Amino acid sequence: MQTEIVSKEELLAKNPAPIKITQLSESVLDINHVSVCFDGFYALTDVNTKVKRNTIHFFIGPNGAGKTTLLDIICAKTKPTQGNVVYHPMYKDPVTLTGMKEYKIVWLGIGRKFQVPSVFVNLTVEENMILSLKKGKRIMDTILRKPKKEELDNIDATLQKVGLADKRQWRAGALAHGEKQWLEIAMQLVQKPEVIMLDEPAAGMGKPETFKTGEILKEIKKDCTVIVIEHDMDFVKQVADKVTVLHEGKILMEGSVTEVLADPTVQKVYLGRGGE
Ligand SMILES: Nc1ncnc2c1ncn2[C@@H]1O[C@H](COP(=O)(O)OP(=O)(O)OP(=O)(O)O)[C@@H](O)[C@H]1O
Ligand SMILES: [Mg+2]
Repeated sequence: MQTEIVSKEELLAKNPAPIKITQLSESVLDINHVSVCFDGFYALTDVNTKVKRNTIHFFIGPNGAGKTTLLDIICAKTKPTQGNVVYHPMYKDPVTLTGMKEYKIVWLGIGRKFQVPSVFVNLTVEENMILSLKKGKRIMDTILRKPKKEELDNIDATLQKVGLADKRQWRAGALAHGEKQWLEIAMQLVQKPEVIMLDEPAAGMGKPETFKTGEILKEIKKDCTVIVIEHDMDFVKQVADKVTVLHEGKILMEGSVTEVLADPTVQKVYLGRGGE
């Protein structure tokens, strides 16, 4: 029985940030034989895969395939009926995320952007970033203390990455749809996550914005591992290092984009149903 960890500092001391490892073969997250049963209905059945460090790993599949449920499992919003998810499986002390509190998983460096943008429309881009950086701090600290220089530098560098540095004083509500999505990605990135999960980041975007989102993800993966759910196959082709195809809660196939797209079963069950 593990003793309860009560603070972020204590948790990070136990799970120190990794030395920068660039080996692509290293797994950062192992999803081990996960099944989820909702009142007799299996949303996921025996999902078993590894997410490698500094890659962009896509989960694709038709509506209801279980993609969002899988992200819910990783961040422990949903409890699996069977199986578990292990973070840093190659480390001396791997962390079993299953059963942990959701906020502790965020502390450990796993960020998530939900599909619907949730920026504060009446605050500026910069104020949204400051709030995100101070998430989890005490309320008085958030209100009273001005951000430190290194925090502002971090905000600046992050906004550069998503192409919003020129708009830091804009009211977030005045941004275009795509820009709001990029701001939300930036609000995750500014917390320097090790893994970022994005549920349909290009939803509602036109082709140029979708392409730019892809280029942003390529930039992000230099420092971070990116897990993406997406339907747009051009976007998948543009950036995916690995693709896992889910169908009715099971892994149908996984591999490179080329391998997956060439597979007749994938074409039948997914691409034939509006994937492209
Ligand atoms: N809390 C829940 N209770 C019961 N059924 C659920 C629950 N959450 C998800 N499901 C069901 O599990 C299945 C998988 O849902 P999920 O949202 O993971 O699919 P998805 O692949 O993300 O689909 P989409 O592409 O439409 O977003 C669906 O049939 C859904 O209705
Ligand atoms: Mg979904």
